[in-house]
Amino acid sequence: MAKTGIFYGPAKGSVAKVATIIAQQLGEDSTDLSTIKDCDASILNSYEKLIFGISTLGRNNWDSEHEDDDWDVFFTHLKEVNWKNKRVAIYGLGDQINYPDNFVDAIGWLYERLKDLNVDVYGPVADKGYQYNDSEGLIDGVFVGLPLDEDNEPEKSPERIRDWLVELKQEGF
Ligand SMILES: Cc1cc2nc3c(=O)[nH]c(=O)nc-3n(C[C@H](O)[C@H](O)[C@H](O)COP(=O)(O)O)c2cc1C
Repeated sequence: MAKTGIFYGPAKGSVAKVATIIAQQLGEDSTDLSTIKDCDASILNSYEKLIFGISTLGRNNWDSEHEDDDWDVFFTHLKEVNWKNKRVAIYGLGDQINYPDNFVDAIGWLYERLKDLNVDVYGPVADKGYQYNDSEGLIDGVFVGLPLDEDNEPEKSPERIRDWLVELKQEGF
């Protein structure tokens, strides 16, 4: 069976921790883990199923003109990928308590960039059970990726991931 490529950034912290949990739940033999920094278009092209993991660290770290930002570099790679027959899913780390007005915004930012490239993004998540005011990750009433809050609800992550992987499977991811 074709492997799923899990690409995440930043390299250390909660996004990385969750990448490992997702790999364990999917089966380590059927997944490859990589930081976004260590990848390029040819690596991305070698997978049909890709999971991207991102944390929201403020718009300055994302929408910036910092050419050397890992995600900015990653976007240049995304533009070179042949997206035909590829499936993508997104998970995002955030903090509902300290950033209730921008909870997991980065899920939405990444989603929009993928949509600009006509990429099929799988795995929407209902916002039931999350406490926040606003999120750019919420589009037409659903999160367009899996929100996780390791700062406040780490105990909920394994089940949220499990449910999401079931949803992905049902969608034919
Ligand atoms: C400077 C800074 C800004 C942050 N901004 C947001 C934010 O806008 N929205 C949000 O949901 N979480 C925000 N967070 C919380 C992080 O997304 C959260 O702690 C996440 O788990 C970090 O993942 P990482 O350790 O993989 O970087 C911010 C954290 C920091 C340190």
